[in-house]
Parts: sequence; C-alpha cells; structure tokens
Amino acid sequence: MRYGSKEAENVVTTAISPAQASSEAAGKALRISNLSKSFGGLQAIQDITLDLHTGIITSLVGPNGAGKTTLFNTITGHIKPDTGTVQFEGHSLVGHPPWKIARMGVMRTFQDLRLFMHMSVEDNVLAAMEPRSWFWQPAGRQANNARRERTAAILKETGLSAKAGSLAGSLSYAERKFLSLARIMATEARLWLLDEPAAGLDPPSYELFQDLLRNQVQRGISVCIIEHNLDIITAISDRIAFLDQGRVIAEGEPSKILEDPKLIEIYFGGGQS
Ligand SMILES: Nc1ncnc2c1ncn2[C@@H]1O[C@H](COP(=O)(O)OP(=O)(O)OP(=O)(O)O)[C@@H](O)[C@H]1O
Ligand SMILES: [Mg+2]
Repeated sequence: MRYGSKEAENVVTTAISPAQASSEAAGKALRISNLSKSFGGLQAIQDITLDLHTGIITSLVGPNGAGKTTLFNTITGHIKPDTGTVQFEGHSLVGHPPWKIARMGVMRTFQDLRLFMHMSVEDNVLAAMEPRSWFWQPAGRQANNARRERTAAILKETGLSAKAGSLAGSLSYAERKFLSLARIMATEARLWLLDEPAAGLDPPSYELFQDLLRNQVQRGISVCIIEHNLDIITAISDRIAFLDQGRVIAEGEPSKILEDPKLIEIYFGGGQS
C-alpha cells in the first residue's frame, strides 16, 4: 500500500440557494456532483457524483490507485478539483481551505495519522477541541475541568484511558489509530472521513473500532471510511461505493456490491473470488 503526500490548493465554485439546498439535501450529509481531478495526464477522479447519507457508515472501496484518497482530499480542501461541487449540509465546500472545512464539521484522518507525537495522549485530544466551543463554556478552572472531563470520556470510549499521560509517540500502532479517532471526536465533527483507519489493527481492536463507529452513527454522525479489509467492510458498512480508475462504478447496499462477481474480480485483479 502506498502513502503519498498530496498538495494543498484552493478553488472557487458556485453555490445553490439555501432553500434549494435544504430540500435537496434532506438525509444527505454530503452531496458530491461531477467531481473531477487530474494530475498531469492522469485522471485521478472522474466525474464522481455521490451522496453520503446522514447517520450511516458508507465505505469507499476499490483497488489501489482507484482515487479514494484523492476524493477525500478534494472534499476536505487539500486538493483543488478541476470541476464539480461538494455540498455539506447544503453549504458549498469547494474553495474553502482545509481548516475552514474542518470548522464546518467535516473532519478526516490521514493514512499517516498526523498526531503530535511529543505530546501526551490527553493533550493530543485537548488540542483537537474546537476553540470556538471553549468560548461558550465558563472561564477558568471550571472550563478547564469541563474540557478534561470531556477528554476523559473520549479516551474511555476509545480505550485509551490508561494511556492519558503517555506520549503519543509511545503508543502502539493500534493505539495511535484510536487516538486519531479520539481527536476527531473532540472536534464534534458531524462528518468523519476515515482513510484506512482499521489497517494494522488486531482482531480485538477491530471490535472496539466497530463499536466506536456504531455508537457514533447512532448519535447522528455520518461516517465515510476507506477500507481494504473485506471482513471489516462487510461488518461495518451500511452502504458501499466502489471506485475504479477514478470513477464510482457501483454504489448501494453492501450485499449488492460484495456479491457482484465483476466487482470482486476488479478488486482482486481476477486473483480471487
Ligand atoms: N498529488 C498527486 N500527484 C500526482 N498523482 C497523484 C497525486 N495524488 C494521487 N495521485 C495519483 O492518483 C491516483 C489515485 O490515487 P489515490 O491515492 O487517490 O488512490 P487510492 O484509491 O487512495 O489508492 P490506495 O488504496 O493505494 O490508497 C494514483 O494513480 C496516484 O498515483
Ligand atoms: Mg489511499
């Protein structure tokens, strides 16, 4: 599996009216329309139109190089799409920088995690908390206590309570993955985009991971997960979008996708079924 760095760029696009947005966007956390991005002669994503539904887990699957991470990068403002629109809760995302899209409630993990390795686990979570929400809390010690209580609850839910005071750099690979999820929880994002969050996890960690995501979607969070492990995809997905060569070539219920021999052949290059 390859882990490449991606360039950040910005672009401006047209917006739809609020009334139009609210009627069209009901039940859709994210609406991606005709999104394309090429790198030189390589069409990384091509004319992608896809809805991410509210309060469910959508898996993005497809072979290496299919364009999954590029799709995330164009949603989150890390890469400028050549054409197309992205609407989150009726608001256009294209043209905004990553920090602003994060503020709007769309958070992601990266394949390389991007934690503060020389800070404690607790401080990594505290640092991710939205500064704007601090403003609404009482000042001083009380506010500090509230943040620490919330951090403790997040660390409990992500199985990291015992590691609160440890440096992030001392965590196991699986623990680092949970810390990256804890940091997203701390932001109170409403859409989570997770790039291979379960890669490298052991089976007990899978269970915790699945429980964690299931609890989040029950609270109304929308999750989109890029994943290669078909067991995890099967266990966790409410919907699946299948990408190949930059295009969404199938989308729908997991059984429809996972039982399609043509898709399985594309996924495994004809090597397995
Ligand atoms: N910044 C970039 N510059 C040039 N080419 C890129 C860039 N980012 C991605 N690509 C290319 O675009 C294509 C899609 O890459 P992408 O990383 O989106 O695939 P992916 O589906 O996430 O693959 P994987 O499952 O291996 O992570 C690949 O051919 C990749 O080499
Ligand atoms: Mg990728």
